[in-house]
Amino acid sequence: MVLNDEEDPIQLERTVDQILKQFYFDNDRARAVSDRVVRDYRRGLKKETNHKATIKMLPTYVTNTPTGRESGTYLALDLGGTNFRVLLIKITPGDNGTKAKCEIDSRIYKVPGEIMRGTGVQLWDHIANCIANFVKLMDITVKTLPIGFTFSFPCLQRSLTKAKLLYWTKGFAASDCEGKDIDQKLIEAVARNKDLAGYDIRLAAICNDTVGTLMSCAFEESNCKIGLIIGTGTNACYIENTKNIEMLDDDVRGMYEHMIINCEWGNFASDGILSDVITEFDTAVDKSSPNTGSQIYEKMISGMYLGELVRLVLVRLHSLGLVFYDEDVETLQKPGSIDTSFLSLIKSAAPDDIVTIQNQISSSLEIGAVKYDCDVVYKLCQAISSRAATLCACGIVGLVELITADDGPGQNIVCGVDGTVFRMHPTFAKNLVRATNMLLPKNTTVDYVLSHDGSGKGAALTALTAQSD
Ligand code: BGC
Repeated sequence: MVLNDEEDPIQLERTVDQILKQFYFDNDRARAVSDRVVRDYRRGLKKETNHKATIKMLPTYVTNTPTGRESGTYLALDLGGTNFRVLLIKITPGDNGTKAKCEIDSRIYKVPGEIMRGTGVQLWDHIANCIANFVKLMDITVKTLPIGFTFSFPCLQRSLTKAKLLYWTKGFAASDCEGKDIDQKLIEAVARNKDLAGYDIRLAAICNDTVGTLMSCAFEESNCKIGLIIGTGTNACYIENTKNIEMLDDDVRGMYEHMIINCEWGNFASDGILSDVITEFDTAVDKSSPNTGSQIYEKMISGMYLGELVRLVLVRLHSLGLVFYDEDVETLQKPGSIDTSFLSLIKSAAPDDIVTIQNQISSSLEIGAVKYDCDVVYKLCQAISSRAATLCACGIVGLVELITADDGPGQNIVCGVDGTVFRMHPTFAKNLVRATNMLLPKNTTVDYVLSHDGSGKGAALTALTAQSD
C-alpha cells in the first residue's frame, strides 16, 4: 500500500473492517438464522403452508438405508455440475457376514456450456451418447442394465423412478426440461441413440446427490441421518418420520415409517427473510446470476458463488482506494475472474506467508500486491468462507431440531458430507464443526463424516436397498 500523506493506515484498516463486518456472525445472529430455517422447514413439511415455504422439503421415496449387505451390478449416472459421470458399480457381499464391497469404474464427460444452456434434446442426447461411449469403453456385454441416476436438481418425485424437474440451478438452463419428467427424457434419448439399440436400459432409482451421500455414508455408519453437499451448489437431506410429511399421500404414509426428505435448502431466503444478513454484494451476485431471486442461501454458501463474492468486495475496496492502490485491476473487473479455489489457496497459506498470497494474487489477478493488500485479501477470504460455514451450520442445527423433536434429545447424529468446498477448502470443515457446536443443544452431537462418492454409488445403493425392502 502506498499511502498519500494524509492517509492514515489505521483508519484505512478500520474502513475495510467495517465492510467486512457485514459478513461476521456471532452466536445470536447465527441462532436467529437457524430459527428462521427451522420455521421454513416446518412450513415445507405441512400441506397448508408448503406453498409459502422457500425450502420445499421434497419426499424422495427412499424409505430405508443400506444394511451393508447389499449386492448387485449397476450403471450409475451422475449429473449435477459441469461434469457428467457414468460409473459401473459392483457391490458384492462380504464373506461371513462382513460388509459388502463396492468396486467402481467410471469416466467423466464434460457438459459444455452450450449444452447446459442449449435445448433439452441436446442435453439428453449428450447424456445418451456418453452412456453409449462408456458401455463400449467398458466392453459391457450384458444387455439388461439397471441404472441408478443421481440427478442433483430440485425434483418432485412420485416414486423412486419418477421425477419431475422443478427448476434448474447451478447455471443449467436447458430448455424444455423444467416441469418435465426426467425419467421420460432419459429413456427417450436412450431410445434415439443407435449405439444403445439392443440394450434394455431401465431406471432403478433416481436420487439427489444429498440422498446418495446419506446412503453411501449409512452403508458404513448406521446412525447417519443427514446427507450434506457443499460443492458447486449446496443442499441437505435427512430421515423424517412419514407421519410428519403431510405432502405425501396417506396410503404412502401408512406404508412406510420413514422417508428421506430432500430439503432443497439452497432456495432458503428467496422470500427476503434474511434481509438483515444479505449484503449488497450478495444482491449483486444474485442479480448477475441466471436464476435471480432464487437459491439465495446457496449463493451465500456454495462454490459456484464464493469466488464472485470475493471479487465484488475487492472491486468495491479498490474503488474506495482501500486495496491494490494504483494497480491495474483489469482482470479483477471481469465477472467470474475469481474462482472459489482462490479462497482455498489463499486460506492454505499462513496469514503471514506473504509470498504465497502474493503469488496467488499475481497469478489469478495479475496484480502486484504488497503486504497490506495480502492482509486484506486474507481477511476477506476468511470472512466469506467462515460466513458460508456458519450459515451451513444453521441449516444443519435446524435439521437436528426436527430430528430430536421426534426421536428425543441426547443423540449422536452422523451427517455424511461431500462436495468440493467441504473437501478442498482448508478451514471450511473446521469452521462448520465450530459453528455447529456453538449452536447445538448440550446433549446432542453431530459428527461430519466425509462420504466417499455418494453421487456415484449412492443411487445404486438406493436401488439395491429398495429392492431388498
Ligand atoms: C440443487 C440440489 C443439489 C445441490 C448440490 C443445488 O443447486 O438444487 O438439488 O443437491 O445443488 O449439488
